[in-house]
Amino acid sequence: MPSVYIKTYGCQMNERDSEAVAAQLVAKGYTLAKSEAMADVVLLNTCSVRDMAEQKALNKMKSMVGVAKKERPNQIFGFMGCMAQSRGQELIDKLPDVDLVVGTQKFHRTADYLDEIFAGRRDKIVDIAAEEKSEATIREHLLNGNATKSVTAFVSIMQGCNQYCTFCIVPYTRGEERSRGIADIVAECRELVSRGVKEITLLGQIVTSYGRRDIPVRDGKSAFVQLLEAVHEIAGLERIRFTSPHPKGYGDDLVVAYGRLPKLVESAHLPVQSGSDRLLKLMHRGYTRERYLGIIEKLRKAQPRIGITTDIIVGFPGETETDFEETLSLAREVEFDNAYIFKYSPRKDTPAAALDGQLPQAVKEERNEALLNLINEIGARHYEKFVGCRTEILVEGPSKKNPARMMGRTRCNKIVVFDGAERHGGQLMDVRIERVGAFTLYGEPAIVNLG
Ligand code: 5AD
Repeated sequence: MPSVYIKTYGCQMNERDSEAVAAQLVAKGYTLAKSEAMADVVLLNTCSVRDMAEQKALNKMKSMVGVAKKERPNQIFGFMGCMAQSRGQELIDKLPDVDLVVGTQKFHRTADYLDEIFAGRRDKIVDIAAEEKSEATIREHLLNGNATKSVTAFVSIMQGCNQYCTFCIVPYTRGEERSRGIADIVAECRELVSRGVKEITLLGQIVTSYGRRDIPVRDGKSAFVQLLEAVHEIAGLERIRFTSPHPKGYGDDLVVAYGRLPKLVESAHLPVQSGSDRLLKLMHRGYTRERYLGIIEKLRKAQPRIGITTDIIVGFPGETETDFEETLSLAREVEFDNAYIFKYSPRKDTPAAALDGQLPQAVKEERNEALLNLINEIGARHYEKFVGCRTEILVEGPSKKNPARMMGRTRCNKIVVFDGAERHGGQLMDVRIERVGAFTLYGEPAIVNLG
């Protein structure tokens, strides 16, 4: 059977989609190649959220097909995911050596399409059509994909987004919001837990809108909170995370859940995008600065140790110095644990791309740097506070930067690196934080004093 190499660009949802496709191919007998050079099939799972992500995948494909022409003429190449969805046939027109283009509702068809290509029944395949119920097809896991057994897993609960933020391409690449059923999701989580998973991250483009149209509010609880409760029931599961939520989805039911459901970790990723009300409106975010700050305040009241991270866009069309100052002041006010900063990138068919006042790259760079410095300074202060503290971590495996050491995560989602052994892998354990690095804690297994 052939071997396959999948390279993933972009978000955790993409990572999850790639994993499901890999698992579907493995189930058919494919092996997973260690590199593109050793693979019979190379698939790029693409991201469209910024132009740079698209260019990276396009350049990668160009260079791979160039090499293959000389060295591996039978290699098969495919694009999957968001850029495949938004560009479709155009990708093959531009890169005629590409064999397969699979959109975001067709990941589960990849194996069949490869069969057809291998059997010579079809030469090129482009499928970016919508497919009903495709939201429930991302379910297979590769728990032993890495050398160590996985203790954390991602579960896709919904697809698509109806928010239509004016900068964002996601509603066009991922389609309308579609949610899986609670029982279906719980069954997948239960299976994962029975295979040793201790932490599950529920995934979707806008998870707080989960089930909004299909599952009625019950006892004041939204469908998403009902799902959290159902997953929380699973014996043996230790931690629940989710991403990405929308701030407007943080109703009181969700805020209260943080205090009520002990497996729901003290961590929230709340993309704010801007601190300026004028820009929030132009972005179509659906909240004001004041409302956002109100949500943070409520969350911290419910869970004082909650770790809060965010996404911020700098250089949105028409962003003035004053608007940007408001973003800086919001970052100071909230004191984020960390923030991902993005330079605005005009996206195909999005309303913001057609707005007046597109800003020069130099302004974006300058604001990016100023905000990054502030976020680093605030983050460092947050991390310093952990020195000397004892905290629970779930050990995920060897540290990526230094495989001689182990790494785990605190409940508030901070990475802890420590001198440990393989036997610590998969364990929940206490460590004492000795020192901090850039967005990393360094710890030592805490010695329990039984005296
Ligand atoms: N330009 C820059 N950043 C963007 N994001 C989404 N669309 C764009 C864009 N056109 C950022 C947002 C979002 C994160 C995943 O990517 O901050 O939260």
